[in-house]
Amino acid sequence: MHVFVLGANGFIGSSLVRAILERTSWRISAIDLTQDKLAAVVDDPRLEFELGDVVERREWVDSRIRAADVVVPLVAIATPGTYVRDPLRVFELTFAENLRVVRACADAGTRIVFPSSSEVYGMCPDEAFVEDRSQLVLGPIVKQRWIYAASKQLLERVIWAHGSAGQLRFTVFRPFNWIGPALDDPPSKADGSRVIAEFLANLARREPIRLVDGGRQKRCFTYVDDGIECLLRILENREGRAEGQIFNVGNPANECSMAELAVALRRLFLVHGRTGSPGPEIVEVSGQAFYGPGYEDVEHRKPSIARVHTALGWEPRVGLDEALERTVVGYVENLRRRGSPLFAAG
Ligand code: UGA
Repeated sequence: MHVFVLGANGFIGSSLVRAILERTSWRISAIDLTQDKLAAVVDDPRLEFELGDVVERREWVDSRIRAADVVVPLVAIATPGTYVRDPLRVFELTFAENLRVVRACADAGTRIVFPSSSEVYGMCPDEAFVEDRSQLVLGPIVKQRWIYAASKQLLERVIWAHGSAGQLRFTVFRPFNWIGPALDDPPSKADGSRVIAEFLANLARREPIRLVDGGRQKRCFTYVDDGIECLLRILENREGRAEGQIFNVGNPANECSMAELAVALRRLFLVHGRTGSPGPEIVEVSGQAFYGPGYEDVEHRKPSIARVHTALGWEPRVGLDEALERTVVGYVENLRRRGSPLFAAG
């Protein structure tokens, strides 16, 4: 099989490329602006890596869409801070560029495995979100935070419509807060980071951890290895079981509040980062002050994973404690390896 991965040096992309090379005999074409996370595999004869911008390299991208058996378009801006500060950039990349890829897949007759997001459920009140039953609840237009969720939702609808018309073979997956050492790495990224990366950067810099609106919001954190295992099964598509499906890919057992997360990460950082007791203080900040007036939060977000379990026999294995510990250990190792000024090893 020939897999084409756009955004291959990102958190999910780099983990996926490494797993494909380690565990399958598939060939990969890949493109990204940077290649640091793929340094160890970039010369692998089964990987064709193109260093470049998908927006500038559209002809090359289209040629690989035509050549591949399946396309995984992972290029997107996935940090809520950017949804609020630069919504048009989110729209242009996350929506417009991916719409182009979806259309090119339909034209070429190439299967697409599309990364949507748990964000599409928005402020859904259900205890656990079900792919074809839960309402997708987004806020008013002035709350610009929802531009990413709206973009992903409309792309799902376009893909679904192409699929219903027999014009596109697809699987959509919705990751639920996948985490690992290299999430939003490096931590000094100018456009802000997702919560795990933000808290880890706070800990490394010995600055206060900021809990938005008291930190009662809950997420279910999914360790990246579990997510990638599911993604490999989706790509493999044994007996066509992933065909035309939308799957939540998350770990409902790993639910925790942001306040609990802050305490757990601070404790783990004391053990593995050896940064000196008691670690930075945990402070509260309003969502408006932290993100700006266009922010609105998701109070809880838990997936039902019955559908993906039935179709592919997948279920997550890594519990919350282990997921957080592996994340902290890997993060500290990365900083040490780079000799990062953020982290003066004890
Ligand atoms: C994220 C992003 O929208 C996408 O990356 C992704 O599609 C989706 O989740 C997912 O991974 O499933 P969210 O979980 O709200 O959305 O993003 P985070 O930035 O990780 O924030 C999680 C919670 O932590 C929010 O309630 C936020 O207000 C809070 N937070 C964030 C803090 O309390 N302190 C911080 O320093 C940062």
